[in-house]
Amino acid sequence: MEWVLVKNLKDHVGSEVELRGWVYNQRASGKIRFIILRDGTGTVQCVLVKAENPGLFEKAADLTQESSVILTGSIREEPRSPSGVEITLNSFIIIGRADPYPITLKEHGVDFLSENRHLWIRTPRQSAILRIRSTAEQACREFLHGRDFVLADSPIITPAACEGTSTLFEISYHEEKAYLSQSGQLYNEATAMALNRIFCFGPTFRAEKSKTRRHLMEFWMLEAEAAFFEFEDNLKLQEELVFHLVRTVLDRHSQDLRLLNRDIEKLEAVSLPFPRVSYTDALKLLISEGHQIQWGEDFGAPQETAISEKYQSPVFITHFPAGIKAFYMEPDPANPEVILGADMLAPEGYGEIIGGSQRISDPDLLRKKIAEHNLPVDTFSWYLDLRRYGTVPHSGFGLGIERTVAWLCGIEHVREAIPFPRTLYRMYP
Ligand code: 4AD
Repeated sequence: MEWVLVKNLKDHVGSEVELRGWVYNQRASGKIRFIILRDGTGTVQCVLVKAENPGLFEKAADLTQESSVILTGSIREEPRSPSGVEITLNSFIIIGRADPYPITLKEHGVDFLSENRHLWIRTPRQSAILRIRSTAEQACREFLHGRDFVLADSPIITPAACEGTSTLFEISYHEEKAYLSQSGQLYNEATAMALNRIFCFGPTFRAEKSKTRRHLMEFWMLEAEAAFFEFEDNLKLQEELVFHLVRTVLDRHSQDLRLLNRDIEKLEAVSLPFPRVSYTDALKLLISEGHQIQWGEDFGAPQETAISEKYQSPVFITHFPAGIKAFYMEPDPANPEVILGADMLAPEGYGEIIGGSQRISDPDLLRKKIAEHNLPVDTFSWYLDLRRYGTVPHSGFGLGIERTVAWLCGIEHVREAIPFPRTLYRMYP
């Protein structure tokens, strides 16, 4: 008999199939038993009528929550069920009978759920988020490959900081000090000089002392870098990528988004081009609304939310003061106090999902900036070589996948957007 995944059941209406999964829930009246089976691709209700098969009906009483089973049944159309079908159960075998399961259908506190993350991910809501994450990652790759970007993986173990020394995780590399990568960018700039348009996608690490709903210590970043791309080219690529992500998730995950109670209209309202506001104009607006902030100070979550909630699409904040941004960002020739970089803020208060910029291409200016930021020039000598041997204008960006997925799914906290989150006070399990 054919083994079919729950997500594909609709294509097999009328036939008898095999299903493999876990018991999510079951309830029985005197004469009829309903078993909800989950197999990771979705859930489906299986029905067992006592009068039709009394032996099997009795045996099913033993199916505890999360017991693993292989069952056979006939598929019927059932418009009222979320999967669109229902199974008439014909037989089953128990593969592993589960002990009393700690995560029941009642509400649990977030500490308890986090402690049991290895089990929490089995619940339909968490599974839906992780499926959307998978699609978001796939859509990023599809989009960039379609634009002639080559995947060039960057190292995790690095000798120097990319995004400032205060958030580095230090490790011992035999006798030497090394750090977990904060960003693949510097290596991306090298591979872009070799391959023209490249991207990397991998875990990045920030020892942030931040306990907010947007911060993880380990998060995944999609980073693109393109030779001969200037500031404008960079923004255009970013907005088209994010628009593609939104459309792809809407197209492929309507059922998951419904399960998450996502307000789909908010995602449908995202349109191109995304609005752009300079840091200086954004600051004026914030001051006029009563925010206590001066030119040269960075925006925090309240300021980001105040700006982003004025738009239905993500918004770019451009031309930040050089003093609050990384050493490698190209100053604006029209006003060297600000840089040719931008942050993309997601709507609905989800905060910054992309940081990007044009990079300094002049070797002397770059050396000066490295010194001004008190970074060790020696460890950057290979990076300076990129400007010595055929320097070109180039630009790139990094998209934080967890913040992006949190926004797409409409969930409160980034910890639910990654299978095993690493937060300030938790790295178990
Ligand atoms: O703005 P960031 O720090 O940019 C860079 O690292 C650049 N070197 C990227 C590049 O140009 N290649 O980080 C980029 C994105 C942020 O917009 C945010 O979405 C995410 O990474 N991010 C975090 N996500 C979760 N937890 C954290 N602690 C994060 N820090 C940054």
